[in-house]
Amino acid sequence: MASLGMVYLVGAGPGDPELLTIKARRLLGEADAVVYDYLVAPEVLAWTRPDCERVFAGKKGGSFSCAQGDIDATLLRLARAGKTVVRLKGGDPFIFGRGGEEVEALTAAGISCAVVPGITAALACAASARVPLTHRDHAHAVTFVTAHRRGPNLGIDYAGLLKPGVTLAIYMGLATISRLCHELTEAGFDTTMPAVLVENGGTNHARVLRGGLAELAAQAGAWAAGGPVLILLGGTSGA
Ligand SMILES: C[S@@+](CC[C@H](N)C(=O)[O-])C[C@H]1O[C@@H](n2cnc3c(N)ncnc32)[C@H](O)[C@@H]1O
Repeated sequence: MASLGMVYLVGAGPGDPELLTIKARRLLGEADAVVYDYLVAPEVLAWTRPDCERVFAGKKGGSFSCAQGDIDATLLRLARAGKTVVRLKGGDPFIFGRGGEEVEALTAAGISCAVVPGITAALACAASARVPLTHRDHAHAVTFVTAHRRGPNLGIDYAGLLKPGVTLAIYMGLATISRLCHELTEAGFDTTMPAVLVENGGTNHARVLRGGLAELAAQAGAWAAGGPVLILLGGTSGA
């Protein structure tokens, strides 16, 4: 029986190959197998060995996407075959990336794993939009929040997030931006609150739309061009 392999959960950053870490690049070059997500820059797969097994795991809302259980099963199968596996995930594995679930599955099965952080979308989008997430005069904290819920009754406590001097970085909010805007204003957010939409943040084709919260919610559908979008709200978003 082959000895057990090892799985590295590696953050691939926001989509620009130059924003992967040197460690991520080294591990890709050493891997026997790479299991990668939709938001990963395709160029980085060229850093793998010619004999490296490449497994696409999908993960795009509304299109082909493997069930999490299937991805866990693939990682276990490869590691049990003694392979060194890179599980390459968009952004950072532990920010809205289900990295925690994958670590739990691997640990429960007795497979060694390690996590290599990546640049999460909020950091990349802040840089593209030149919106500092913190600022000594305007923003003393930043909150990462997802607009995506697992079930219809799992509400997000937006009222609890309404605090002066806090920048909100909202992931996965584009598809439901009208409902999000409604829920935020119900929770006390001002419809004119400065907001920024960033598409493909951190890449050479980043796009930025600035305006008030309700204004952006109304324009978002026509503006969006199909790339991943993050919403920055409050803090220095209007500066
Ligand atoms: C499932 S989450 C994964 C987040 C990822 N783990 C991270 O740390 O960035 C996917 C969401 O992240 C945001 N996102 C990811 N990459 C992005 C980018 N380059 N520009 C804007 N938003 C991005 C979008 O809101 C997208 O719907």
